[in-house]
Amino acid sequence: MTSGIYDAENLMWQEKARNVAEKVVRPLARKYDELQQYPWEIKDALANEGLLSVWIPKEYGGAGGGVANLCIVVEELSRACPGVGVLFAVNALGSFPIIISGTEEQKRKYLPKIAAGETLMSFCLSEKEAGSDAGALRVRGIPQPDGTFKIYGEKKWTTNGSAANLFTVFAVTDPEKGSRGMTAFLVEKTDPGFSIAKVEDKMGIRCVPVVETRFDGVTVGPDRLLGGKAGLGFKHAMQTLDRARPGVAAQGVGCAQGAMEYALRYTTQRIQFGEPVSSKQMVQGMLADMAMQVEAARQLVLAAARSLDAGDPKGSKLAAMAKCFATDVAMKVSVDAVQLFGGYGFMKDYPIEKYMRDAKITQIYEGTNQVQRMVIARNMINESSNFAFLDAYIPKESQWKYEG
Ligand code: CAA
Repeated sequence: MTSGIYDAENLMWQEKARNVAEKVVRPLARKYDELQQYPWEIKDALANEGLLSVWIPKEYGGAGGGVANLCIVVEELSRACPGVGVLFAVNALGSFPIIISGTEEQKRKYLPKIAAGETLMSFCLSEKEAGSDAGALRVRGIPQPDGTFKIYGEKKWTTNGSAANLFTVFAVTDPEKGSRGMTAFLVEKTDPGFSIAKVEDKMGIRCVPVVETRFDGVTVGPDRLLGGKAGLGFKHAMQTLDRARPGVAAQGVGCAQGAMEYALRYTTQRIQFGEPVSSKQMVQGMLADMAMQVEAARQLVLAAARSLDAGDPKGSKLAAMAKCFATDVAMKVSVDAVQLFGGYGFMKDYPIEKYMRDAKITQIYEGTNQVQRMVIARNMINESSNFAFLDAYIPKESQWKYEG
């Protein structure tokens, strides 16, 4: 599974994460799926192994492992339980805004506690009427004469919401300015006016709570304004999603890998027509297709993560490509794995249907795969001038069709 693509640090994180995944996560995956409860014992194991510090810079108490090592950990956890993969990765999503744009004071106050697993995070961007259209927020952050802001409104699909104690909240502070009038705030669970409005009942990733969060005049001082500046919220959200999307992609890879391993083992043990079903060419074709897709997705995720860690301007496009490709692979492979389990695959006694349920959300959250394709195509179109030299080979008579 390592495919020669990992360095020594990558392998160290992979082994650490795999240990927790096999000793703690896999044995408990079904229990928390059924209970639909946050698995505090799993979170403690993640914190004890130092896994919650992987993406936090060293100067703020973290391991400085960047996006690449974060993805490696997410893949390993998701292989055992894709729900635990996101339970873990959502802390990176919530804390990337602080890492990317926080003031020195905000970094020192919050990041060491996140790295230690004492502070858990949520990212509050989406609203009932602002899902894919993240620029259409209604939650307001109203500036007060004393320099504070009062936050009013509701957020939707806040992953980790009832477990988290710190929330990155995006609100409109200047409605005249559209997406340039958005600001990110750091809201603590204990802030008066903050509450959880509804806990969702979900198809998959059932161990991680997804909630509606309500802000009834939550008052925050300038110290809780991300980066100390208003009006940069939309950019902060986009830059965060660029870094976080490879994590969802890695969740997709782990989900697909985990489902494929079960399918491989099952088809070599299941006897029909007097022989293991894995001896049938049609089954072999499905196994081979799974393996190709999973490996291609893994390599794309790592390429995207390394590109972001290197500050490469292509990181945003690669992150969208990895998120879209790997999560489509998660869906396809998990559905095919259920197929290979036949009638048993449809039953909850078997572990495979959970992968299919857990896979679905990966194509939706942190930007639907339709949005990812939009991001990829926009980037490609922006790069089209690199191919101006090809104009010499395109007959001029066709130009009237696309000019202007
Ligand atoms: N980095 C930096 N800046 C960026 C950027 C990026 N990647 N993408 C856009 N911007 C900037 C643009 O340059 C532009 O700046 P100016 O105003 O200075 O010109 C500004 O942002 C507006 O950009 P667009 O015109 O491209 O914005 P848009 O309205 O067309 O939207 C979009 C673009 C890509 C569709 C965006 O709205 C989007 O990503 N939507 C999906 C939102 C999403 O992923 N939500 C998931 C939330 S998290 C979640 O799922 C829950 C959870 O807890 C797991």
